[in-house]
Amino acid sequence: MDIKDLKKQAFIDLTKIQNLADLEQLRIKYLGRKSELTNILKSLKDLPLNKRKKAGEEANAFKKDMEIKIKNLESQFIGQVIRTKEREKKIDITAPGIKMPCGHLHPITTITRKIEESFQSMGFKILEGPEIENEYYNFDALNIPKDHPARDSWNTFWLKTTPEKLLLRTHTSPMQVRFMEKNNPPFRIIVPGRVFRYEATDALHSHTFYQFEGLMVDRNVSIANFKAVIDEFLKKIFGRETESRIRPSYFPFVEPGFEVDMRHPKGEWLEIMGAGMVHPNVFKAAGYVPGNWQGFAFGAGIDRIAKLKYKINDIRLLYSGDLRFINQF
Ligand code: FA5
Repeated sequence: MDIKDLKKQAFIDLTKIQNLADLEQLRIKYLGRKSELTNILKSLKDLPLNKRKKAGEEANAFKKDMEIKIKNLESQFIGQVIRTKEREKKIDITAPGIKMPCGHLHPITTITRKIEESFQSMGFKILEGPEIENEYYNFDALNIPKDHPARDSWNTFWLKTTPEKLLLRTHTSPMQVRFMEKNNPPFRIIVPGRVFRYEATDALHSHTFYQFEGLMVDRNVSIANFKAVIDEFLKKIFGRETESRIRPSYFPFVEPGFEVDMRHPKGEWLEIMGAGMVHPNVFKAAGYVPGNWQGFAFGAGIDRIAKLKYKINDIRLLYSGDLRFINQF
């Protein structure tokens, strides 16, 4: 094939190129090592001198021309590929969104806030107390003297400190005397907070858990008032159908003492709090004249309430840090 035919053929082939792959084929066909053009260039040396120059110029011009044409087509196709990709990347506003990971409140925090709101609506003030307590407020001031067997009900984490014996509070009750020492009746308070017990754990017991203490003191406060407040609270948190019952029980800092159980309609009864009428010795420890005042006190397990509210089968899950659990709330 001579150069003229080669040009004609190339002209036709160029019109057929559709994409980068076609273009590569064309480049090999016309500029590759085994191409017709290579043959022509190789055979130049066999031509007579007068023809050799012209044929050489013509072949090189064709080569240059093809190189330029291929280069142009190449950038054209690459541009097309990029544009298609960009079109594909365009935002589809009808596509379902991707949810951004976002933190949320722990169920204990959520239920504590609900509890606080329900008592606030009944005129209770919310306050907090220290998690590290001394023996006096945790036990002595609550009518639980040293060596009193009732101390065994609260297995205690003692801190290695001297001379004052410090401990992790075993209940929120120490805030009763702490508050009464500085405030005069009448008052109603709620004290939520973390408490600690050195004891074996199970689905209903944790070594670290939350309680809220309630204390209402006035001239004439009765068990009937207590029952009314607790029923209103339970109904606010669990709905109108919730039932509660009071059973006699013993705590050194109340007289009489009782425990409160609750249940959803026809559900199982679960103990949620200890309670009672404030013991005269506790009023004395606070500096009140016992005959002048009456009050009820209660200490409720927030974990137990969360367990019922959110249908959690084991309260230890609340402290597991397991996201599969936490993300359900
Ligand atoms: C007390 O702690 C008393 N301070 C309550 C009290 C206050 C009585 C004021 C009278 C007057 P008790 O040990 O029963 O009592 O605990 C109270 C509530 O805390 C229980 O009803 C239960 O709901 C919860 N609770 C007790 N131990 C645990 C535990 N290990 N894990 C989770 N919740 C617990």
